[in-house]
Amino acid sequence: MTSKHEKLNAWVEEIRTLCRPGSVVWCDGSQKEYDEMIAITVNEGLAKPLDPEKRPGCVLFRSDPSDVARVENRTYIASRTQDQAGPTNNWIDPDQLKETMKGLYDGCMAGRTMYVIPFSMGPVGSPIAKIGIEITDSPYVVANMHIMTRVGGRVLEILGADGEFVPCLHSVGKPLAPGETDGGLWPCAPLDKKYISHFPEERTIWSYGSGYGGNALLGKKCLALRIASVMARDEGWLAEHMLILAITNPEGKRRYVAAAFPSACGKTNLAMLVPTVPGWKVETIGDDIAWMKFDEDGVLRAINPENGFFGVAPGTSMDSNPNAMKSIEKNTIFTNVALTEDNDIWWEGIGYDAPAGKIIDWKGNEWDRNPEKKGDRAAAHPNSRFTAPAKQCPVIAPEWEDPRGVPISAFLFGGRRPSTIPLVHQAFDWNHGVFLGSIVGSEVTAAALDVTAGTVRRDPFAMLPFCGYHMGDYFKHWVKIGTRTEAAKLPKIFYVNWFRKSAEGKFIWPGYGENSRVLQWVFDQCEGTGKAQKTDIGWMPTPDAIDRPEGVTEEDMKSILSVDREGWKRELGLVREHYAKFGDRMPAELLAQLEALEQRLS
Ligand code: GTP
Ligand code: SPV
Ligand code: MN
Repeated sequence: MTSKHEKLNAWVEEIRTLCRPGSVVWCDGSQKEYDEMIAITVNEGLAKPLDPEKRPGCVLFRSDPSDVARVENRTYIASRTQDQAGPTNNWIDPDQLKETMKGLYDGCMAGRTMYVIPFSMGPVGSPIAKIGIEITDSPYVVANMHIMTRVGGRVLEILGADGEFVPCLHSVGKPLAPGETDGGLWPCAPLDKKYISHFPEERTIWSYGSGYGGNALLGKKCLALRIASVMARDEGWLAEHMLILAITNPEGKRRYVAAAFPSACGKTNLAMLVPTVPGWKVETIGDDIAWMKFDEDGVLRAINPENGFFGVAPGTSMDSNPNAMKSIEKNTIFTNVALTEDNDIWWEGIGYDAPAGKIIDWKGNEWDRNPEKKGDRAAAHPNSRFTAPAKQCPVIAPEWEDPRGVPISAFLFGGRRPSTIPLVHQAFDWNHGVFLGSIVGSEVTAAALDVTAGTVRRDPFAMLPFCGYHMGDYFKHWVKIGTRTEAAKLPKIFYVNWFRKSAEGKFIWPGYGENSRVLQWVFDQCEGTGKAQKTDIGWMPTPDAIDRPEGVTEEDMKSILSVDREGWKRELGLVREHYAKFGDRMPAELLAQLEALEQRLS
């Protein structure tokens, strides 16, 4: 099969000639094709089918220990000039990078099948959707793309003879000699040969050497965030690292909230939350990415461009996130979790002890249960993940595939901050909200391979690893978006922090379902019925506005809902350092916000 699209056919032919695979297969997105991909990986010894009674249609993959997360140090924004990529992105001259990568791609698919995957980000045919074509030599990637995006012939039909698509080239970077197989080992290239490259002007993606997650499923971070953020800047919309949820109050009034938290900081959990507040309901639109445009009435509407969840496994339990647990009962790909003797999955924080019998850890070794050794030898990798169809989520919102998107009432920003940042505060206005987004900081998690976990780093709008251009210009874009409609129609902006710690290092706020108490206050603020007081950092709940969850003392509540003036003064210094990186590209509006906050706190 080929397409009617000459440019696409020519590109596929060019890549075939360069990568020299054994054969070429155009993907149709069918169940049969998915089953074939799984069968290939099972036969190769790369995947293990799980117990068909307990986990029907589920498989487990173990990746190479060097290939377990995104590699930020090997991710490039190769714009024409370094200035366009800005100080927060790695940059290599695009011609030079292409030359290096062409050398790597030369013959790299030897002994493998080259798959051509036509996919849509967003409902097929929606005016907001974008089409990508991923070429890959990994059946694992094909199977994951089936779940995470909309794959198939319908996409080619819509593309027609001259539609626009984003070319996404991917190889695991491990050519096979004649007769050689992977021998059950996850194929990938060493770290210094991995490249996750973006060519923003050409809207093209070249990825080499990694088979994992955001490095390899190119529709997600590469297309829907890094390339889409550039499109959004040029076309006046927003492509953001945000979950989207629907929240309904006891009177049946429905609102939509989008929230940006850095990787592994709670988006999937908030998107599927089971409220502890009686009478309230939360439903999921998306758990990782939001594309947002103004409609003809000047209302900002959001779609989830994805079709599935690529969620963090550890910490997911019937207690913390029952809706995720129900989403992964069947038809799910697990990567780097532990395997039980009865062929089921297990991970740290799943809510029960590892069952009796042999446990195989994510590296494929028998796991030593000795709790003393547990700390440095987890059974599941901290960034182990599940890939599950969104439609399997019991609380998926009925309108989640509405091509028009849903109207956003509020934005939340947040991160893991053990101190200073209160449970919730609200921006005075749009530009103050943009300021709050721009200063987001978070303790680094295991979702990125090459940054030290645990340290606080600035991660503006949770987009640090995902913005495809100069971060200063990105801030300007957000300021500009605020001028595109009447102030009253703009989403209200909040900053939340579920991760304040006590002197003993314990989380003060129970989080998860209890976060519904904060969502309720956010909802009421949007309605104009919330109980709020003005402080120097923004609007905050009055002491009686948020009910105290079980296990949280009055003292605790006070500590997470007051303004830590000394902490904020230290914060101001850090924000100044952070802003200095962007030099004269910093929008005056945000410098003015910083100035004003400094004044209020002095
Ligand atoms: P990405 O998929 O990497 O973008 O991550 P995410 O933002 O969707 O994070 P996710 O919801 O998967 O949560 C990551 C980790 O944070 C899991 O181990 C959760 O158990 C934990 N977590 C989520 N919400 C909360 C919370 O409210 N409180 C606490 N203490 N932990 C949480
Ligand atoms: C993240 O790191 O924010 C993820 C996982 O959502 S990955 O798709 O691997 O980037
Ligand atoms: Mn993410």
